Amino acid sequence: MLKKEFPFVILAIFLTGIGGTFQYGLGISGVTSPSSYIKEFVNQTCMQRYDVYLEQWQLSLIWSFIVSVFAIGGLLGSILVVPCLSKIGRRNCLLLNNFVAITGGLLLILSRKASSFEMLMVGRFLDGINAGVGLSAHTLYITECTPKMLQGMVGVTIATSIAFGRFIGQLLGLSEFLGNEANWPWLLGFNAFTALLQLVTLPFLPESPKFLLLNRGDQEGCQRALMTFWGNKDHGAEVEEIVKEKAVLQNMRSRSVLELFREKSIRWQLATVCVTYSSLQLSGINAVYFYSHDVFRTAGIDEDKIHYASLGMGVCEMLSSLLCFMIIQNVGKKVLLVTGYAAMVVILTLLTITLYVQRFISWMSYCSMVLIFALLFTFSAGPAGVIAPLSSLLFTQEFKASATAVCCTINWLGLFIVGMIFPVLVENLESFCFLIFLLLSFGCGMFVYFNVPEMRNKTPLEIAVDFEVMHGKWRRSNGENMEEKPPKASNVCGTKL
Ligand SMILES: *[C@@H]1O[C@H](CO)[C@@H](O)[C@H](O)[C@H]1NC(C)=O
Repeated sequence: MLKKEFPFVILAIFLTGIGGTFQYGLGISGVTSPSSYIKEFVNQTCMQRYDVYLEQWQLSLIWSFIVSVFAIGGLLGSILVVPCLSKIGRRNCLLLNNFVAITGGLLLILSRKASSFEMLMVGRFLDGINAGVGLSAHTLYITECTPKMLQGMVGVTIATSIAFGRFIGQLLGLSEFLGNEANWPWLLGFNAFTALLQLVTLPFLPESPKFLLLNRGDQEGCQRALMTFWGNKDHGAEVEEIVKEKAVLQNMRSRSVLELFREKSIRWQLATVCVTYSSLQLSGINAVYFYSHDVFRTAGIDEDKIHYASLGMGVCEMLSSLLCFMIIQNVGKKVLLVTGYAAMVVILTLLTITLYVQRFISWMSYCSMVLIFALLFTFSAGPAGVIAPLSSLLFTQEFKASATAVCCTINWLGLFIVGMIFPVLVENLESFCFLIFLLLSFGCGMFVYFNVPEMRNKTPLEIAVDFEVMHGKWRRSNGENMEEKPPKASNVCGTKL
């Protein structure tokens, strides 16, 4: 029914996906499989240029930087995208963004020919910008182009397209395809091709109707775009609704990040968002992704089976994000968060034990692998799906933009920190490397259990009251300037990261 009624929405989901959050997933998983070739390349390049072989730690440092500079680019991208979206439009922003990806991809592809690992760094940085812009632009464009009744489903496709990107990165990373000595630059630069695909196809879709009407004042264009996406009916009612929403937003002053931090009445909401968003990165999931090969090697899996193990991870994540979609409607968010963290603590404990014991009992390495899968599954089915939309759930409209900005920053910085630190951890702590993530997950679970009320089916205002009751300070003073509106699904950066 969906396909028949909204063919262009389906098309838009696919076309925006490949140039949007897909690139983010690809950027994270694509670098894992050629790690040993890239390290070798850096080592050889330094030899040719400076006549020195690098020490192990120097090489690790350069390698971590190549991996993590992606996150710095992402942070920059998520800042740049804000004026870009409102000035040139959602679709054009995505289109322009493809040039960044293509430039980055070309640098990566040519880096070996040019014997320059600096090009790898710049290329990864550009890819990061592309991913940062893509996350926001994709989310905004696709939510604005879909009718209300489909928005829940479309929200999930954003997360699915990240998972799909990761999966493709792993699939291409198999040594039969691009994950080998000869082809690894093509693997790193693969996103240039998906960007090119979007660049030539997306112009056939219209700009977001909401943008056309509100930012451009183009009533006719908006009508035409609505017709394309939602079918040949009269869309007067929808147009009116958009205009009304605009009026509401105009009467409301958006608060700055500084004001967000100063506002006493919402500090528990802010703390909740900060803690949970940090845990998104610091629970070890992205560490497992970035360095899945090192992790599986540490777990004692054979070298030739590692690729298939990490391919399995991609499949596992896609399945569990679907599961999350199904259970999130029926289970309380707090319940899901707390049980998720509790399960992760148990799994991480077991994992630490099996990693330690496997030196003595060799088949234990398969238990470790199963546990890594279980960790991934628990994380994507529980906390990841709940935390993603949290900033639009906890904050009223006036604080939403600054809260989202804070979340974005925490997210990308966390990714950078994990990317830089984790290899050092693996090297020095070996089987105990997950202990840190264990402690963090435990702390986060405790925080949520004691400090956060249940949030299911509540508006930000109701949640705010629950927070106050929970912390024993019942005040009504801030009640009147908050606005009673249900939280919206569209959240610029809050997709599953
Ligand atoms: C760099 O390459 C040389 C020669 O192949 C090798 O002996 C050395 O161990 C390599 N350095 C690292 C850190 O792998």
